[in-house]
Amino acid sequence: MNSETQTLLEVRNLRKYFPIRKGLFDNTAKRQVKAVDDVSFFINKGETLGLVGESGSGKTTTGRTILRAYDPTSGEILFDTGDGQFDDVAQYDRHALKHFRRQAQMIFQDPYSSLSPRMTVRDIIGEPLVANDFGSRAEMDERVRSIAEVCGLKVEHLRRYPHAFSGGQRQRIGIARALAIHPKLVVCDEPVSALDVSIQAQILNLLKRLQQDLGLTYLFIAHDLSVVEHISDRVAVMYLGKIIELAETETLFRTPKHPYTEALMSAIPVADPHIVMDPMILQGEIPDPASPPSGCAFHPRCPYAGPECETETPAWREIQPGHFVSCHYADTLELVGVSALQKG
Ligand SMILES: Nc1ncnc2c1ncn2[C@@H]1O[C@H](COP(=O)(O)OP(=O)(O)O)[C@@H](O)[C@H]1O
Ligand code: SF4
Ligand SMILES: [Mg+2]
Repeated sequence: MNSETQTLLEVRNLRKYFPIRKGLFDNTAKRQVKAVDDVSFFINKGETLGLVGESGSGKTTTGRTILRAYDPTSGEILFDTGDGQFDDVAQYDRHALKHFRRQAQMIFQDPYSSLSPRMTVRDIIGEPLVANDFGSRAEMDERVRSIAEVCGLKVEHLRRYPHAFSGGQRQRIGIARALAIHPKLVVCDEPVSALDVSIQAQILNLLKRLQQDLGLTYLFIAHDLSVVEHISDRVAVMYLGKIIELAETETLFRTPKHPYTEALMSAIPVADPHIVMDPMILQGEIPDPASPPSGCAFHPRCPYAGPECETETPAWREIQPGHFVSCHYADTLELVGVSALQKG
């Protein structure tokens, strides 16, 4: 445990398997979806760790398991309770979880479906305060007003219902709701994916400002690398339930070491029209996580796959200080990043 660098959360060998039941009366549950399969990472206080990967790679399950919306199948979720002492959230009982929920909250992708249509904005934002016995009615009202204001909402908005708002404003309500209790850790699960591009930047800027003002630590989930580039200090790339590369953002974008990361990057539109990118189209669909391919799970789609890729699982290793990857050929492949092209 690295308490000198102020780690807030360290996840070790986290697994979340979902049983697959064939029918209503089948309880054999032999097959499992390995939605999160041996994932380890840490997040420092005040830092943003981006978590990217195609849909179905296990990002949401990772976020939800860390917050104990799901019980982990195995692994540790070590969380600094305030004085450099780490608790294993995976072991928490109901009582301890209730206290933990004051410290760790989630912002959802689709603000509309996560907001109750019959509650006023005031009650929506105040609900986590009520659930956590925050204080008197007056103290709650004051907290709701102040968090709504810093999230860019007006006092008169508090009396209205969510349907009266645009997508961007609804996400401001969702953010205010998550932050009202002043958590330390926030899992942002694709918070801008459902928004118009013009609104995305506003919400990302708001999240950045709130992070500084409130001293927040983010796990920021997106399926698109370009969204995490500007908000993340470090980025983890997920494929079929495993993190396959993790590095500081600049390093990852400049010198990716995993072919899957390179493929994701080649799909990012480049701002400079003089640069013609050759998008490396990922062949085929993401495989079924209930029966992942042997060896390196990326091998059926990998343009660089060699003979051992089909049979031998590549080890997770630190190829440069702070740059982790699992690919047999990471030392010799010369992969193309994005920042190198964009920033000359
Ligand atoms: N509650 C659940 N029950 C069964 N399978 C699930 C459940 N939630 C997610 N999965 C499966 O786990 C895998 C990872 O899903 P998810 O974490 O939602 O991925 P992502 O957020 O990266 O799109 C998918 O195959 C998905 O179908
Ligand atoms: S281990 Fe082989 S299949 Fe997997 S990413 Fe590296 S080169 Fe591709
Ligand atoms: Mg998801």
